[in-house]
Amino acid sequence: MFFLDHLDTNRQGHLTIDGVDTLALAEEYGTPLYVMSEAAIRENCRRYRDSMERFYGGRGMVAYASKAFCCKAICRLVMEEGLGLDVVSAGELYTARAADFPMERVVFHGNNKTPDELVMALEYGVGRIVVDNLTELRLLDTLAAARGTAAPVMLRVKPGIDAHTHSFIRTGQIDSKFGFALETGEALSAVQEALKAPHLRLLGLHCHIGSQIFDIEPFCHAAKVMLEFMGLICRETGAALPELNLGGGFGIPYIQENDPVPYCRYMEKVSGVVKETCGKLGFPTPFILIEPGRSIVGTAGITLYRVGAVKTIPGVRTYVSVDGSMADDPRYALYQADYTFTSALRAEEPKTQVVTVAGRCCESGDLLGENVLLQEVEPGELIGVFCTGAYHYSMASNYNRIPRPPVVLVGEDGPRVIVRRETLEDLIRCDL
Ligand code: LLP
Repeated sequence: MFFLDHLDTNRQGHLTIDGVDTLALAEEYGTPLYVMSEAAIRENCRRYRDSMERFYGGRGMVAYASKAFCCKAICRLVMEEGLGLDVVSAGELYTARAADFPMERVVFHGNNKTPDELVMALEYGVGRIVVDNLTELRLLDTLAAARGTAAPVMLRVKPGIDAHTHSFIRTGQIDSKFGFALETGEALSAVQEALKAPHLRLLGLHCHIGSQIFDIEPFCHAAKVMLEFMGLICRETGAALPELNLGGGFGIPYIQENDPVPYCRYMEKVSGVVKETCGKLGFPTPFILIEPGRSIVGTAGITLYRVGAVKTIPGVRTYVSVDGSMADDPRYALYQADYTFTSALRAEEPKTQVVTVAGRCCESGDLLGENVLLQEVEPGELIGVFCTGAYHYSMASNYNRIPRPPVVLVGEDGPRVIVRRETLEDLIRCDL
């Protein structure tokens, strides 16, 4: 019925996720409610893992970028699927350890990691620390020396690639706060310094060109640029770096018209470029890492809201207000992100009106979508928003002191809460 396999309708015409009636879920757990399909997440993990096996002969690792959605249950789930984990803060790292995630499969990112975070990474035994800048490089060398150890590092390089996506989530071009620039020679001198640092073990390089990218070409281009740079490093320093991390960024369909490339096509194409470039350079194919976040969990999630007031301003627009807001979904306010909305009650009925879906925050910009096609919904009706599994719960705030919604995972044995709803008491827990 919909463009996502785990979403459908039942005999009553209600929206279902993995066969579970969303009206029943809202009844049991309340709204707003994040719901995720466990099967869809596992399927995405397997697709990536199988492609890694098929196209790189298993000489690689898929590290789920937990910034997309981080909690203990998801860490356990991706661990069971044999993936690694990309973390970007002490909070994500702490969550990973609380879930008993194997630390050697953790990749630690961040453009301004604090000394405490670096110490924590060393103490936990994180497998790869991706160093962003010279300040961090020197600090990490000192911190590792104090512990009598050598830190396993990769260097973040910006390959100078401008992938077509929203400017806030574009990171590979030269004007970016992330990483060492290639064209200025900054990256090469950082590599030389890292190779000489007595307490750093330089494993390789990292790049990430942006997020929600539909084109294969920028990924191929990035792989080629990075490998050519590895060839140059080899010629200049004699060091054949054994690893290359190509980041994440693969797009997902938020609306039917979006047309993402299947991940296995991306893996096939990029692995072709990797092998060809290495062949030409006479350079051994490195161990490859990738870091998908959105494309592992994004399509798996939906958000359920209850409609409150419906306000039609004649000749202007109709506002459909819901019991959620930019606090649980800041993506429209931040990126004017497109979404698919539907009545969960009569999901099969045609969408006959164009509305603005408004949140309940005390702010005019608190909108979840404009020019949204929707059925003639009434106050009290349940609506569902598709593809909210990534960068929703993880970006949620307590703005206006609104408690964060829970996350329910629908698995083989039915739905279960993996993150409970915040209470009003939770909101004042840190107040003194
Ligand atoms: N690796 C690195 C180093 C990253 O910075 C990111 C995302 C990823 C991997 C995962 O990218 P993904 O596969 O999820 O596209 N809040 C924005 C997205 C920001 C992405 C930041 N970095 C949004 O809601 O669209």
